[in-house]
Amino acid sequence: MSTVLPVTASPEHDETNALDRVRALESEYLLQTYARYPLVLDRGKGCYVFDPSGKRYLDFITGIGVNALGHAHPRLVRVIREQASRLWHTSNLYFHAYQGPLAERLAKASGLHRTFFCNSGAESMEGALKMARAHGRKISPEKFELVALHNSFHGRTFGALSITGQEKYRRDFEPLLPGAHFVPPNDEVALEQIVSERTAGIILEWIQGEGGIFPMSIEYVRKARELADRYNALLIFDEIQCGVGRTGKHFAYQLSDPIVLPDVMVVAKPLACGIPMGVIVANDRAAESIGSGMHGSTFGGGPLACRVALEFMDILDELLPNIDKMGSYFRAKLEELQKQFHFIKEVRGQGLMIGVELTFPGKQLVLDAMEQGLLINCTHDTVLRFLPPYISGEKEIDRAVSTLKRVFKLAAKRGDAAV
Ligand SMILES: Cc1ncc(COP(=O)(O)O)c(C=O)c1O
Repeated sequence: MSTVLPVTASPEHDETNALDRVRALESEYLLQTYARYPLVLDRGKGCYVFDPSGKRYLDFITGIGVNALGHAHPRLVRVIREQASRLWHTSNLYFHAYQGPLAERLAKASGLHRTFFCNSGAESMEGALKMARAHGRKISPEKFELVALHNSFHGRTFGALSITGQEKYRRDFEPLLPGAHFVPPNDEVALEQIVSERTAGIILEWIQGEGGIFPMSIEYVRKARELADRYNALLIFDEIQCGVGRTGKHFAYQLSDPIVLPDVMVVAKPLACGIPMGVIVANDRAAESIGSGMHGSTFGGGPLACRVALEFMDILDELLPNIDKMGSYFRAKLEELQKQFHFIKEVRGQGLMIGVELTFPGKQLVLDAMEQGLLINCTHDTVLRFLPPYISGEKEIDRAVSTLKRVFKLAAKRGDAAV
């Protein structure tokens, strides 16, 4: 029989106990891959999550950009209940009623015609890379190279790692895919020098997420589009973190005017709000590279995930203006803090994808914020990252900002910036 840990509050099972017990069992039986924060999450409602003692935390990291509608959103709960009691898995041996409508929805929102369903960000990137390879191979066996950016993050599988431009993720697993080249972001000359007839795909994030909330310039992305066209390569946008509403548009590339369309886009995190789902969305030219039997997934595009995503897409249409408005409101408040604390180097981002770069590592500040009831994280060592739920209002943002102010005051008092 398995050990079931009582984590809900009771005199014998207080928060510390719950944390100790959960941690002890995990340290014995789990691969030790994660450095978790010392917090057990027990339940969530709206923009908040609760630990076993009932302490409330404002969730401004949302499972790294996944819980886009916060927690236990009543419309998602209804759809999940309804579909779970009906049918939740079919495999792709059979049809069900929801893949088609969701693919149509994605096509209309993106301008890209064909969708493949899978289960995570890395898996969708793997599929996109296979498309680039197959596309190149049809033209020439020499056309297999991939061009990606320094500082990027595309996932932990072999293909995705091969184009992730951060040595720390790659080095333990080399050799990876041959023919991957890295260039500095926003350097049009470097890009032009590396892309050639041998290039099968150019991959970029519009706003690098794990890389510290770094946006690409529109001119740079236009250059990538021009080079992909010149050399008949596929332009692949990784919208796993910056896509599906996060920036206030359905997809981040829609921030450009006129819009720079990719050939292939990969999307995951918020699409089914925590029910695992990744998608590859491609134009017809790219879609032709993958024929029958060349790719597949047992779990991809199940009826439960598709229904949740469909419901989410409906809600998202209503929420896009809020994301834009609250993003501007939040950034303005953070810029006010920047004037008060000299160690805030920069406030960056778009919509509800925001980074605050510090002059020193931010790990301790994340722990301080957690202690004070605010969940955020730190990426690229010095960048505090905020991925609040799309349902956030001024009240939640004001609360986050006043907590941050206390955290920054503490850091100033401790002299963190001097270390
Ligand atoms: C831009 C980007 N691409 C790919 C991934 C990998 O996604 P997953 O963890 O779902 O495999 C992530 C995850 O953080 C990401 O931010």
